[in-house]
Order: sequence, then C-alpha cells, then structure tokens
Amino acid sequence: MATDVIYFDNAATSWPKPPEVTAAMTKFLAEDAANPGRAGHRMAVAAEKMLDGVRKSLTEFIGGTDLHRLVFTMNGTDALNIAMKSLLRQGDHVITTMLEHNSVSRPLQSMSDSGFITLTRVAFSPATGVIDPADIEKAITPKTRLIAMTHGSNVLGTIQPIGQVGALARSRGIIFLVDGAQTIGVVPIDVNKQNIDVLAFPGHKSLLGPTGTGGLYVNTTIKMEDLVAFREGGTGGDSSSPTQPRLFPYFLEGGTPNTVGIAGLGAAVNYVRAHDPAKTLVHERSMVQRIADALRRLPKVKVYGPAGPDAAANRVGTICFNIEGYTPQEAGSILDESFSIAVRPGLHCSPYAHRTIGTFPDGAIRVSPGHFNTEAQLAVLLDALGQLAG
Ligand SMILES: Cc1ncc(COP(=O)(O)O)c(C=O)c1O
Repeated sequence: MATDVIYFDNAATSWPKPPEVTAAMTKFLAEDAANPGRAGHRMAVAAEKMLDGVRKSLTEFIGGTDLHRLVFTMNGTDALNIAMKSLLRQGDHVITTMLEHNSVSRPLQSMSDSGFITLTRVAFSPATGVIDPADIEKAITPKTRLIAMTHGSNVLGTIQPIGQVGALARSRGIIFLVDGAQTIGVVPIDVNKQNIDVLAFPGHKSLLGPTGTGGLYVNTTIKMEDLVAFREGGTGGDSSSPTQPRLFPYFLEGGTPNTVGIAGLGAAVNYVRAHDPAKTLVHERSMVQRIADALRRLPKVKVYGPAGPDAAANRVGTICFNIEGYTPQEAGSILDESFSIAVRPGLHCSPYAHRTIGTFPDGAIRVSPGHFNTEAQLAVLLDALGQLAG
C-alpha cells in the first residue's frame, strides 16, 4: 500500500527512511541487541559502544563538545519535558512564544496553572511568521530563568532568529532552550555559536531516523546542580547509589534505551551528513516555492505566512493553506482518498499559532516536502491542488 502513497507529511515524521537505517536496525537487533551496560558482558558492552558512537555523531552534528551530555529520549516531546521539568524551580518566570508545539506549550501551561512558574507567551507576526527578539527582550523580568522557543515553526515552516535570542539570553544570564524538531537535519544548528544551553530534538523528522528516538543536548553552560532528575531508575552501572547517579548522561537517562531505534538513528545521521543537509534544504525550499507559486494562481486558496515570490526564503519544507469551500479535514481526505497524497490537516498540535493566523479551531492543510520527494510527486500534488481549488 505504502508504495502507492505520495507522502508530503514529513513535518510530522519523515518517510521513507534511508535503506541504511532499516539495515542498521535489523543488524543490531539480530546481532547485538543486549541491554547496554558499561560493566557487563561482551554484548552489553557492544551495545553501550554503539550508543556512545551515536552520541558522538549527534554531538558533533550540533557543534557540541561533550558526547556524555547527549541524552537519548523517546521523541521530541520527551526531550522537551525532561529539559523543562529538570531545570525549572518554584517561582521561575519563563518566556515562550505563540509558535510553540504543545510539547512546549502544555508542560509550561500546567506549571503556570499550578502556580509553580509564571509564563509569558510572545506573539509573532502572521505575515512573516517570525518572532521579534525585541519582544522577547521586553518580556524579561528579574525572575526570568528560561526562554523556550522553537527553531522552526511546524505550522508555517518559518525559521526563527535563535542566534539573536541566544545572544540576548546569554547576556542576561537566562537559560536558552531550543526546540529543534523542525530544523535539525536541514538547517545548521551550532549549540555554542548560537548560545543554546539546551537543545531538544526528535530523531524521526529531518534526521531521517526511526520513530521512538530523540535527544537532548545539555550544554556545558548547565551545571549538574542546575538540574533535578526527571526520570529515575536503572543506568546500566553505578547501582549502589541510592538516587540517580550525578553523571551525564545517566542523570537524565534512566531505563533501558531504545537501542534498536538508536542504531537506526546512528545510520540516519551518517546518511544525513553524507548527503549534505544544505542540499536537502535547497530541495525542500524549491518545492515549497513552487507550491506557493501554484497556490497564488488559485483564487480560492489562502496561504498563511510568507506567500509571495520569496515564500520559501526563510522556511523549512512546510507550507500551510486553506481552500475555500472545504474544511482542512475534507481537503485532506480528498487528497488521501482520491489522489493518494498524504498531507496533514488540522491544528498541528500548535493551537496558539493557528489562533494567531486566524485558523483556529479547524486549522489548515499542511504540506511538507522532504528529502525523498521527487519532481514527479510534486507534479501530481500541484495537479491535484489545481483540480481541488481551480
Ligand atoms: C516544533 C515541534 N516540536 C516538538 C514536536 C514533538 O516531537 P515528537 O513528535 O517527536 O514528540 C514536534 C512534532 O511534531 C514539532 O513539530
């Protein structure tokens, strides 16, 4: 069935995955899939070595310096929860944005509702889809401990000025947490150059790894004393300690990791590095621009965020629109059932962003080309959109 599908839902998870990913997972599962442990038998040590190899690749990929500070997580949501719940203290003020995914918005809203933190949500321009760092600066109070924001909007695809916000946060002694879910693997991230204290990311989007993988890089600017253990349990070593051992990555990484998935993630990162993320970004932008150009000629379509001849200039491979006469869900179903095209209608777990662009509560249709989309697939998509909205 999957071979018939024209997949344009890469912002949710990338598909297909490189064959190297499947091969690495199959091989690891068949040959080395013991529970990792630093002081165990040969297979356990081999599994631990594989984990450390992938930690090293990922750490290098994001400009980090200490592979032990790369914590494996289940997905982007898990990484963000670990970051926020390990770092925040009673009475802290947190700045976030209206562009955030629920994996940032919901934990912060719960902490704010219970009186644990106070929260400011900074607005973005619906026309540009970008946060103004000056608005973040205005929101800073003496109690601001954390700025948590996305690098790329999962609704509009727009890339946020994290370098500027990072410099601001560093100059004011505020921890800077970046959600790299939509950018890692296509847009360069350098945790040191961009003053990122904590970077959370999934492995299954533009890194092209399997679902069930993600990571959190805790930069050397964060001290162990700044953290509380979020998930406490086994660490494959140091069993005598009555509480979570105060060692990276184990302090934040209790439990048996998804070793099979991480073996696949390692192959995925190698694949992404070998294929040059900059080229993938050019490819995705070229597709997004041609979708925007085609939609501009259809009077029944409204595109959100930048929509003109430079619509893709500051975007990853994501574009959102609506077609007059159809709810996003109806349009998504027709694309699926009549054209075998997979897109994502709805609110995309980002209700504040949809409120800002005026599409709450139904949301919009999101089309997200990725590394493997072909010109032939784009032609089918553009033809289908023309038939639907023409
Ligand atoms: C911007 C953003 N943040 C966080 C997440 C959560 O990632 P995951 O689905 O891996 O938990 C997503 C996923 O759609 C996202 O787009």
